[in-house]
Amino acid sequence: MTSAGTVELPRHLRRTLGLLAPRRVELDARVRVRPWSSAWLLTHPEDVQHVLVTGAERYGKTPFLTSAEGRRRAGQGLLTSSGEEHLRQRRLLQPLFHRRAVERFEGTIDARAERWIASAAPGNVIDLAAEMADLTQRVILSILFDGDLGAEDEERLARAIRARRRYTEYVYHGRLPWRTRLPTRVLRANRQALAAIDAVLLPVLARRRGRRAAGGQAPGESDLIDGLLDARYADGSGMTDAQVRDEVLTFTSTGYETLGDALTWAWYHLDRHPEAEAALLDAIAGGDGAAHAERVLAEAIRLHPPTWIFARTPVAADELPRGGRVEVGDTLFLCQYVLHRHPAYFPDPERFEPQRFADSRPTRAAYLPFGDGAHKCIGEHLARLEGARILVRVAPRRKLRLLAPQRVEPWGGITLRPKGGLPARVESRAA
Ligand code: HEM
Repeated sequence: MTSAGTVELPRHLRRTLGLLAPRRVELDARVRVRPWSSAWLLTHPEDVQHVLVTGAERYGKTPFLTSAEGRRRAGQGLLTSSGEEHLRQRRLLQPLFHRRAVERFEGTIDARAERWIASAAPGNVIDLAAEMADLTQRVILSILFDGDLGAEDEERLARAIRARRRYTEYVYHGRLPWRTRLPTRVLRANRQALAAIDAVLLPVLARRRGRRAAGGQAPGESDLIDGLLDARYADGSGMTDAQVRDEVLTFTSTGYETLGDALTWAWYHLDRHPEAEAALLDAIAGGDGAAHAERVLAEAIRLHPPTWIFARTPVAADELPRGGRVEVGDTLFLCQYVLHRHPAYFPDPERFEPQRFADSRPTRAAYLPFGDGAHKCIGEHLARLEGARILVRVAPRRKLRLLAPQRVEPWGGITLRPKGGLPARVESRAA
């Protein structure tokens, strides 16, 4: 059998897997991450599909998220739950994120994009990565609270969410043992951030529950907080304030940085490929901007998937479809950065070519920027809608010219972003 080839893991991604991780990863294989470890990288799409979908009952998320400590850290929401509890919560929340349901946020997204354009004055030098993270964070806050927050409370929440992000990265990347118990500044800031989120959120919930009790609110019609308050389990009950709070923590942690990174990489590729940028501008001028922008985004996150790697652990010993036994306690890494470069599914894989997504749908098992199976990203439709609308609004008005494109290196934190940010000069495109 001929080899499917190899994919080179950039330096800063290899480090996430450990110093002894292979530089070139073999495709269609089960690759040991370190010589003595029971951590594997699965690079055959069939094995990946088995772990996430067809044999998913034999695999769970890793304890980083689902252990008691993980749940204390990230809240007891959708992201950290598993099994029956996850299914119940997913059924409750799924309708809020259906393709048609998220269209109600179009006006909110456009308004935030306009504010961003107004703030990005021609001549400014900006860090596009930070700007896109800030923009998408403001969008998720507007989607949640739709105008129910004053400027001061919004600022307070934005600061708290950033502090929680730093805390998660500290826990994820830190090397210190007991780092979640040491009295560090990051931990203190995280505690203060949780208190700030409660101080802003709980009065909003009380006000809205009060309004409902008085019969003054049409259920589920406006923002995401209303959606969460009005959602009902099969037995007719709804979520408690603590549950709503934990889902707000979930959406404010999962719902912006990934998309901020996706947009950052989209601008990066557009600047590096003037023909792709021109095609996008033509499509926008011709009224087909949204579909074209979705393809740009899809191709950007093929090459630079914000969730570039994730893990599962067997809950029972199993045999992988392509051969190889896995045991309880092993760690199985599924790496989008590698899978998305499989030449059998993406000819000339390093080439940025949004048109690939117009000609055919990619093979499901080889293209999974949003994951797959029971835990597949619940925010996928929102992310695609929001990302495309921001591109369509911004591209014809602002040219974002990278200052040092040749120096950009992907860095794998919790999400994949340009190491050290993405400096760019804002130029006007207004006619
Ligand atoms: C380009 C943007 C995004 C990317 C690349 C992305 C990627 C992913 C991936 C790969 C997973 C699966 C993780 C796993 O199986 O372990 C996931 C799950 C999740 N995502 Fe996203 N996401 C994006 C945007 C969003 C948005 C906008 C939201 C919400 C507003 C969101 C909320 C979630 C939640 C709650 C989960 C957990 C779902 C579950 O376990 O049932 N994501 N995301």
